[in-house]
Amino acid sequence: MATRNLIDLNQLSLEELDDITDMACRISKHPTHYSSACRDKLMATLFYEPSTRTQMSFQSAMLRLGGKIIGFDNPGSTSVAKGESLKDTVTVLSGYTDILTIRHPVEGAAMAASLYSSVPVVNAGDGGHLHPTQTLTDVVTLRNVAGRTDNLVIGMCGDLANGRTVHSLCKCMARYGGNSFVFISTRTLAMPDYIKDYVTACGCSFSEVSTIEEAIPYLDVLYMTRIQQERFESPEEYQAQKGVFVLDGKKMALAKPDLCVLHPLPRVDEISYEVDDDPRAYYFQQTLYGMYGRMALIIRLTSEHESRQPEKPRTDSEFVCRNPKCITQLETYLPPMSIDTPKGKVCAYCEHHSH
Ligand code: NCD
Repeated sequence: MATRNLIDLNQLSLEELDDITDMACRISKHPTHYSSACRDKLMATLFYEPSTRTQMSFQSAMLRLGGKIIGFDNPGSTSVAKGESLKDTVTVLSGYTDILTIRHPVEGAAMAASLYSSVPVVNAGDGGHLHPTQTLTDVVTLRNVAGRTDNLVIGMCGDLANGRTVHSLCKCMARYGGNSFVFISTRTLAMPDYIKDYVTACGCSFSEVSTIEEAIPYLDVLYMTRIQQERFESPEEYQAQKGVFVLDGKKMALAKPDLCVLHPLPRVDEISYEVDDDPRAYYFQQTLYGMYGRMALIIRLTSEHESRQPEKPRTDSEFVCRNPKCITQLETYLPPMSIDTPKGKVCAYCEHHSH
């Protein structure tokens, strides 16, 4: 593995990703064989933002590997409430532990944390940006239930603007051959251009539609997402988008017999409960695959503790990130860093263009 952190799943080659998903499949078949794989290892979960599944999935994964956990999910009860910076919290906690997982409401926070950690950092969701371990979950699920990760027509529905799960998933699935995408959303919640550009640069096609009905007959995978209430500027803006997309039995009747319906959860109202009993609904199984995927990832990252440092994006004192949701706006000591893309420089933390 070229890097010890997991900030973006695309840091892994497809071969490395396949190795991890293979290991996840082996763990799912014989979990007890791995029950002391992380004995004597300690993981910290730094959850600055609410989470049920991801946090507990990481915790269950580490405990099932025989490791131990510390952490917080209520930053208000930690020194963060006293104004401690991300840098200081991470510097201290990485000294106590062998691996850090971090969830944060601000884009690029995991990348920022990795600059100051002496142990591997795993991005458990950074604002509306990325969520690589959810994508690992999705890839393990697809390998098990669809039997492949290539040559799929993948529909993504809901809040494609603010949903970090769909951003990560798109960036990953575009690397597998023959996948194409149908983005189902309102105009306001459309997939960001930087993701569409990435998909195109990988040679994949995508289309954009505004109803589930017009897409569902052609899909192999339908990835439903909730409208991300917490990312809207005002309650009115959220209300205008709420409840637009609902997958129900009537729409499922239009779908292929082997459609695979996924959802990162939590569900709000975008999948009606009748769909839960449809054999094509895999979203609860998906959560279990997520735990096995995280077990495999933790084994990989903690056993490569001495491996070489990741190549850090270069400090670029000229670069100014204008994304108000970027961690560099909040933690102002962070060095400006950029990455070159075919469309110009983007912020290394949040991937936004400078203009
Ligand atoms: C997702 C997240 O936090 O981004 N949930 C998860 O990790 N399983 C999806 C969401 O909150 O909508």
